[in-house]
Amino acid sequence: MWEKNSVLLLLLATAAIMVGTVITMVLPFAYVNTDRDAIESVVPYSALELAGRDVYIKEGCNNCHSQTVRPLVAEVIRYGDYSKSGEFVYDRPHLWGSRRTGPDLARVGGKYPDQWHYEHMRDPASMAPGTNMPPYDFLDNREVDPELTRRKMEVLGFPYTEEEIRDLEGKTDMDAMVAYLQKLGSDIPWREQERVVAVGELTNPFAGDPAAIAEGLELYDRNCAACHGAGLSGGFAADLSALNYPEEVYFRIIHEGIQPLGMPDFATLGSERIWKIVNYLESEQVEP
Ligand code: HEC
Ligand code: HEC
Repeated sequence: MWEKNSVLLLLLATAAIMVGTVITMVLPFAYVNTDRDAIESVVPYSALELAGRDVYIKEGCNNCHSQTVRPLVAEVIRYGDYSKSGEFVYDRPHLWGSRRTGPDLARVGGKYPDQWHYEHMRDPASMAPGTNMPPYDFLDNREVDPELTRRKMEVLGFPYTEEEIRDLEGKTDMDAMVAYLQKLGSDIPWREQERVVAVGELTNPFAGDPAAIAEGLELYDRNCAACHGAGLSGGFAADLSALNYPEEVYFRIIHEGIQPLGMPDFATLGSERIWKIVNYLESEQVEP
């Protein structure tokens, strides 16, 4: 029988593996990063963002965070539009990752104000109670090296100006990190997509229900107080105590967020919880 012929078996096995390799590796590589995938609005990293990217790699953030949104309904609802290959043309190496102890960061840019990131990086639990992300406050004490960053820009072939390099003087690794995080996923205009609110959802199912107000307070403390302060007093985002908006306006703001101002959307809380928060907000409004 032919399989008893070891030389023939070896040749055929090698051929079979080569065919598999060509189909699963060589062909996709021939297509990735070609003009077909290019997206005009995707631009290279600025000098500060590139410095931040290297801090991200050095600190091993990708051991807990992925940077790619898969084309699955649950992921798209949670993180935003799925990743396109053309978004990664300037990522060398890419940081797609495979671990998600923390959430995916491919689309975190613009989700929060800069100030949120500074506070969260210095003390994650202050913005997300119960998180197991470690603090990175020491990044405040490290400075970006302008000359080193210039050399990296040159090696990667990214455009930069002398002014940009001069501006790196005195910038910390923390500044670079925040700039990098704000760039992630922000090159394509996916946030402009409208989120659909079903008409039925726009009626308050808990009007005048004191239990809903109490639950709304708890939800507020967990989801909103980090930015808007305890008791609506205002933190680094707006004081919410004297807005006196109609209730469906509150609902829409919470459901859709306000981008790119840095108010995240809370659609994933579901409309019942959002209405509880709205009832709490209403119960605390004072005359301006
Ligand atoms: C031990 C795992 C772990 C490591 C290491 C880690 N994180 Fe996180 N990260 C988390 C978890 C869990 C969360 C979710 C709760 C929170 O916001 O803290 C998170 C949340 C975040 C968020 C907010 C995401 C969102 O959409 O709300 C950002 C931004 C972030 N991390 C950046 C970083 C950066 C930058 C580094 C590296 C300097 C890092 N993380 C390292 C676990 C980690
Ligand atoms: C990451 C920080 C952050 C979180 C968390 C957050 N917001 Fe906001 N919110 C903002 C920012 C930024 C704005 C834009 C205006 C400003 O700077 O205050 C805003 C605006 C608003 C406005 C409109 C204010 C106005 O003056 O018209 C409302 C209402 C609001 N948020 C409610 C909420 C509620 C309710 C929650 C919790 C479910 C929440 N926000 C969570 C950052 C945040």
